[in-house]
Amino acid sequence: MLCDENLALKILQEGNTVILPTDTVYGLAADGTSDLAVAKIYKEKGRPSFNPLIMHIHDLESVKNNITVCEVSYKLMETFWFQKSAPLSIVVPVLENHNFSKLALAGLDTVAIRRPNHPIFLKILQGFGKALAAPSANVSNTISSTTADMANLGFSNQIPVVDGGPAKVGIESTIVRVVENNIVILRYGAVTAEDLQFFGKVIDGTKQHLLAPGMLKRHYAPKSKLLLNVTEKQQHNNMLLLGFGKILDADLNLSPSADLLEAASHLFEFLDRLDKKSPKVIGVSPIPMHGLGIAINDRLQRAASQE
Ligand code: TXA
Ligand code: MG
Repeated sequence: MLCDENLALKILQEGNTVILPTDTVYGLAADGTSDLAVAKIYKEKGRPSFNPLIMHIHDLESVKNNITVCEVSYKLMETFWFQKSAPLSIVVPVLENHNFSKLALAGLDTVAIRRPNHPIFLKILQGFGKALAAPSANVSNTISSTTADMANLGFSNQIPVVDGGPAKVGIESTIVRVVENNIVILRYGAVTAEDLQFFGKVIDGTKQHLLAPGMLKRHYAPKSKLLLNVTEKQQHNNMLLLGFGKILDADLNLSPSADLLEAASHLFEFLDRLDKKSPKVIGVSPIPMHGLGIAINDRLQRAASQE
């Protein structure tokens, strides 16, 4: 179903999702500071895992208390966002007290940010005043939508779409991260290595063997040992229990009513809160393997295996 900019803004302010046009592909957008709004994105995309999402911003001012930007990253933003209006996402470290959704960052201490070069998206961002998380608007394992029609059909007309015409670029933004003044390309897009080379040495980060250990893709892992499918808290183990459903002795509960959307929204925030108490072990209740439970279990398994 189509909707206009004003309704889209209202939907976003109410914590719901809406499909917006960008310069690259259509994006499934939600409040980037709300875990619950972001959980809706993952649910609607039907992804079996929580990939970190790109935060879309209008200007640096709106996120200046959330990130640190090195000189090279700043130059890239100035050039590709504000001079060339080119599709470049830049991964930067977040500050300790950032207000981004931890679910959107998949628990990482960095965030990918970009300025979408589309007048409708930019206007909505200005009205919203906060970052919008927006992965490509397609269900998992289908191609990205470059028109409002494609986005509409892809989600069987369930999610409101703002029609901003066909996307100009047609493929997702280039993603880079600056590491010790080198520009590491994490995803190829319309901004190329040739475009980037004037700002630093360019390294292909899509081929993991070319990277130094510190540059490798990392997954969120708590410092405490994680034990999954725990049905009873073990006192002798100095265990804190992350519950799900009707668990009486949980230290925190992902969702007392066993609602997977609620559980997904709390996952990284609650793991982090328990981890900060430095228990020997964090036990986690069994999470059912359907719907969002598949992505929750995927993340828990990765965190438990510390790979
Ligand atoms: O053109 C685009 O970038 C589109 C439009 C809608 O803006 N968005 C997009 O988002 O492609 P998505 O969620 O489909 O892709 C996000 C990619 C993920 O594959 C993830 O690996 C990477 O960005 N990413 C996000 N945050 C990251 C981080 N902190 N470090 C490394 N990679 C990150
Ligand atoms: Mg995608």
